[in-house]
Amino acid sequence: MCGIVGYIGNNDSKEILLKGLERLEYRGYDSAGIAVLNEDGVHVFKEKGRIAALREIVDKDVEGHVGIGHTRWATHGVPNRVNAHPHRSASGRLTLVHNGVIENYEQLKQEYLQGYSFTSETDTEVIVQLIEKFVQDGMLVEEAFRTTLKALKGSYALALLDNENEDVILVAKNKSPLLVGLSEGCNVVASDAMAMLQVTDQFLELMDEEYVVVTKEEAVIKNLDGIVVERKPFTAQIDASDIEKGTYAHYMLKEIDEQPFVIRRIVQEYENADGQIKLDDSIRQAMLDTDRIYIIACGTSYNAGLVGKQFLEKLANIPVEVHIASEFVYNMPLLSQKPLFLFISQSGETADSRAVLVAVKKLGHRALTLTNVPGSTLSREANYTLPLYAGPEIAVASTKAYTAQIAVLAILAVDTARAKGIALDFDPIHELSIVANAIEALCDNKEEMEKIADEYLSHRNAFFIGRGIDFYVCLEGALKLKEISYIQAEGFAGGELKHGTIALIETDTPVFALATQEAVNLNIRGNVKEVVARGANACIISMKGLEQDGDRFVIPAVHELLTPIVSVIPFQLIAYYAALHRGCDVDKPRNLAKSVTVE
Ligand code: M6R
Repeated sequence: MCGIVGYIGNNDSKEILLKGLERLEYRGYDSAGIAVLNEDGVHVFKEKGRIAALREIVDKDVEGHVGIGHTRWATHGVPNRVNAHPHRSASGRLTLVHNGVIENYEQLKQEYLQGYSFTSETDTEVIVQLIEKFVQDGMLVEEAFRTTLKALKGSYALALLDNENEDVILVAKNKSPLLVGLSEGCNVVASDAMAMLQVTDQFLELMDEEYVVVTKEEAVIKNLDGIVVERKPFTAQIDASDIEKGTYAHYMLKEIDEQPFVIRRIVQEYENADGQIKLDDSIRQAMLDTDRIYIIACGTSYNAGLVGKQFLEKLANIPVEVHIASEFVYNMPLLSQKPLFLFISQSGETADSRAVLVAVKKLGHRALTLTNVPGSTLSREANYTLPLYAGPEIAVASTKAYTAQIAVLAILAVDTARAKGIALDFDPIHELSIVANAIEALCDNKEEMEKIADEYLSHRNAFFIGRGIDFYVCLEGALKLKEISYIQAEGFAGGELKHGTIALIETDTPVFALATQEAVNLNIRGNVKEVVARGANACIISMKGLEQDGDRFVIPAVHELLTPIVSVIPFQLIAYYAALHRGCDVDKPRNLAKSVTVE
């Protein structure tokens, strides 16, 4: 979703801002803009579409040592140049970029800004006009900024330029992510550390309802009463090379290929020198103390949660409910006596999940976050964090984060089972090493996946069927396919088709069937027969040991609980090639954002 960058220092800000915005491209956006301030005033450049289009219209001769930039993912008003940020106040003195949603912007217009004319349809413009109104009423800009923040309801990350003061950027945050980066002779602002890694790896974390006065020498954090807040910077643990594509055509393919390494890294990080699972005692205790786990997540992370439920129930004997965050928050079920909330989120910034976290914390419940970004909002605000160690995931379609989530959930379930004294015939560390080798073998066989994509996916729709744990992988397979190739795809429990959906099967309808579970192998094959009898073009992907004549592809054998980490790989690759061959923008599918920071 929207991304913010800012720079103040000794160099020209233009290129730093544009580079920063390119690094934020992965979050998803539909227009972009920058504002550069110099002694002639502010110069604003905005364009619909990609940063490349913005680059074309930026005047190369304009230079300025301070500037802000923005990628916009439209919420209020269509994606066009007018609605793109930065937005300027009526007099042109103030210039603002904003992430998030201001819920009371109509009320603010009514209360304070009657008679003002607005050029865009955005909620953001109300903020900048309101700051200017308070300045015109006699306030200094910082006071007007703070007063406006107090009046806002909703989520925001903001950066403000003042034509009359080239030495300051004012920034603020509430619910939306924002960091201030510190360096010698310059300071920067970014929604995500990755955007400014070329400048610094030292960042100040901001809490909700804080603002910062950023100059090139310092960054002073204050609360909404103007009181200075002391905070030490942290070092961003990201290697700049992790976020390069290298020789790959797409991040998605690179990230698919990284999965064996990610699984091995998880094994290393969660294994003690004596071969035991390494986990914080407080997390172990929280797992022992709970009588029911509520997994809260969205999209791919939700699909991983469904697999995690199997581990936690089957291995650790704890009842688990898996909930879609955006539903749970407005429709909370009856909770058990000692609930533990388990948030699964690649980004750690998903607003829907965060809304649940805020709600359950108010009720006094404990929360554990599984995330790829320790230090993210969901990580900071939960009681405990389990890192995924997958490295930055840039492609919008989640791949390595999904398999990492499942691997860490397996480790967590086994650790809890052992802590409860449950005897298990399952060593996750050993089994995950086998899984890593199996993924490697599949990644070495991409040509076959490309052929399957070509053979089966000339239709505008496709079905994925499986039973038990395979069903959950089918949900993920369908999500991958639809989000990047725009082929309408649905995952179904094999036995459920005949209760309605089978009506959609026509001659040559593609149906992918997973057969990795011995207990339901014959059943899923029966379901395949049902669709084939109605004309479907069925592609059976089975696991070694369970294969039958006619199966289109056989994946290596791994422990039956861990099959999702392996069986999802063909689906990821098939989706990739289907999207590629249809000319889709694989890494940045239309309408989607990597980090979904609005509810
Ligand atoms: O960062 P999160 O894991 O919380 O994001 C949740 C979903 O938006 C995300 O998993 C989405 O479904 C994937 N990008 C799909 O590939």
